Amino acid sequence: MRLHALLVLLPSALAFQIQFPFKVSELFSSKTLSTHVEEADISTTHRVAIIGAGAGGSSAAFWISKAKERFGLDVEIDVYEQSDYIGGRSTIVYPYNDSSLPELELGASIFVEANKNLWRASDEFNLTRRNFREENYETGIWDGEELLFSFTGGWWDTAKLIWRYGIFSPKRVDAYVASMIKQILLLYSSASPKWDNITNLSTHLGWTENLNSTTAEYLAKQGVSEKYTNEVVEAATRVNYGQNVRSLHALEGAVSMAGTGANGIAGGNFQLFEQFLNRSGANVYLNTPVSSIAQKSSTSHLWSVKSARGTLNYKAVILAAPFHSAGIAVPESISEQVKPQPYIHLHVTLLATTAPTPNPEYFSLPPTSPAPRMVLTTTQGGKNTPEFNSLSYHGLVREGEWAVKIFSAERISDEWLSNMFQGKVGWVLRKEWDAYTENPPTLEFPPVKLDTGFYYVNSFEPFISTMETETVSSRNIVELMLNDEFNSSICGRTISESNENVSDDSQQPTTANDSPNFVFGWDC
Ligand SMILES: *[C@@H]1O[C@H](CO)[C@@H](O)[C@H](O)[C@H]1NC(C)=O
Ligand SMILES: *[C@@H]1O[C@H](CO)[C@@H](O)[C@H](O)[C@H]1NC(C)=O
Ligand SMILES: *[C@@H]1O[C@H](CO)[C@@H](O)[C@H](O)[C@H]1NC(C)=O
Ligand SMILES: *[C@@H]1O[C@H](CO)[C@@H](O)[C@H](O)[C@H]1NC(C)=O
Ligand SMILES: *[C@@H]1O[C@H](CO)[C@@H](O)[C@H](O)[C@H]1NC(C)=O
Ligand SMILES: *[C@@H]1O[C@H](CO)[C@@H](O)[C@H](O)[C@H]1NC(C)=O
Ligand SMILES: *[C@@H]1O[C@H](CO)[C@@H](O)[C@H](O)[C@H]1NC(C)=O
Ligand SMILES: *[C@@H]1O[C@H](CO)[C@@H](O)[C@H](O)[C@H]1NC(C)=O
Repeated sequence: MRLHALLVLLPSALAFQIQFPFKVSELFSSKTLSTHVEEADISTTHRVAIIGAGAGGSSAAFWISKAKERFGLDVEIDVYEQSDYIGGRSTIVYPYNDSSLPELELGASIFVEANKNLWRASDEFNLTRRNFREENYETGIWDGEELLFSFTGGWWDTAKLIWRYGIFSPKRVDAYVASMIKQILLLYSSASPKWDNITNLSTHLGWTENLNSTTAEYLAKQGVSEKYTNEVVEAATRVNYGQNVRSLHALEGAVSMAGTGANGIAGGNFQLFEQFLNRSGANVYLNTPVSSIAQKSSTSHLWSVKSARGTLNYKAVILAAPFHSAGIAVPESISEQVKPQPYIHLHVTLLATTAPTPNPEYFSLPPTSPAPRMVLTTTQGGKNTPEFNSLSYHGLVREGEWAVKIFSAERISDEWLSNMFQGKVGWVLRKEWDAYTENPPTLEFPPVKLDTGFYYVNSFEPFISTMETETVSSRNIVELMLNDEFNSSICGRTISESNENVSDDSQQPTTANDSPNFVFGWDC
């Protein structure tokens, strides 16, 4: 099952008005959870502040700690997080708020084997991956008026699929996705480029055309039929990114289709981010929003970070939260560089139901014909826009009762739920997220480096928005930061001169001679 869940919700330090039914991890010592520092006079030469404890911020701390561990780099890391938990847009809830029942991901849900950092982290941290193949439900595509098509089992090789779409369109999309993954894997090789400009990176990877086109435009040029793009690819872009093939750029369109072998961490993906932080030895300050970041003085190269802890000075600052919603006052010379960034405001509705399938009548099926347990949607067909992006069953809450997840652009009412599940709804939880960036075609991206010693992890989101790519962005930024400020790097005492970088785009990416399981940053 490919399109199983939210591929993409990214970590951030957004605050949300919701109680999470789990305790802040005991992994963090009480010292690191305290919200006040006693030391008034902290040596600032070797301090780095990270704002945000989601995938980007937690992994940034982890990458810095690799340089500490390997080269004895003397750096103290402070992580500021405005909410009361680690994980940002990756967090769990329990049905009925009962922790004896299986947890549900409320935000970012899945990663795949090609997501080498998260895959490796789950191995190293001894976290158990759960493959979603077990939930291989029948899947239907709904256009708001009729159920176009439904299928079970393998996505590509079902006879039904070929019957409806022919063989070439699925193959061409598959080939495009494979070529995209091949390029992404370069970022984990020892020859990975380092970038301070995402436009340059995209040129380097050969992604100018697909970034500058909508998914629909680009696939049409590849000879993919409109029907396949409109129905199957759009089902994927809508469940993963809440966007349509005529608005989403074709790189993110390919990422939407790359969900084969979706995995999550048993007990919740947030544990990956807890472990990154715990193993980094960073000081973690929860419930500690940062109100402003400013240069200490025009002569020093220190940054003053103001929060409830007071104003502390740092040699470098890594912002790992969406710039605009983080609500941090910064000098105008910095804020003017980051253009307004619209996010998709997503409604997530989780519920428990004893109805074994959704209401067939809603989908204009005969009352005796069971509706699929996974319904994806397209806006390209019927006159009615579907009322939701996706609706999927997610295993048993307990015998005879299932968990269901609905993503939609609007709030889903109780009456609607009651109709869809024939009055058999036992528990409902609603959550709204600014889940992912709107990713229309563009060749302009936010700056990676906002100023000397000031870096922006979420600059990567309008390029590719996933948990994994935040850890890739943070690794790159930590390399830049260590190089600029500490004459160091993650994998060497200095960034090797022989290492490729993207200041010269005439260089084509090279395939490194790495061992098969090599992951840059982990294995060096
Ligand atoms: C869920 O349960 C926890 C304790 O188990 C409690 O602290 C919290 O307030 C509950 N949340 C809701 C929304 O009821
Ligand atoms: C990491 O977790 C261990 C075990 O719970 C704990 O002893 C340690 O203090 C934690 N380290 C940090 C930096 O929070
Ligand atoms: C990894 O997890 C397994 C099962 O939870 C446990 O038996 C084992 O001791 C763990 N290993 C390490 C190195 O933590
Ligand atoms: C990107 O697309 C726009 C609009 O189609 C076009 O004008 C522009 O030349 C394209 N840029 C590149 C670098 O391809
Ligand atoms: C990145 O480089 C391009 C030229 O390749 C330039 O137009 C753009 O302004 C740069 N972006 C940033 C944020 O510096
Ligand atoms: C940077 O580190 C290298 C290797 O440790 C050393 O040779 C060099 O002098 C350092 N440069 C600066 C400017 O500190
Ligand atoms: C790229 O390489 C040049 C020379 O090899 C170096 O001066 C520059 O700092 C590098 N840029 C990055 C982002 O690593
Ligand atoms: C790369 O980005 C820098 C700006 O950050 C720009 O000056 C340079 O021209 C870009 N290089 C290419 C090849 O686009």
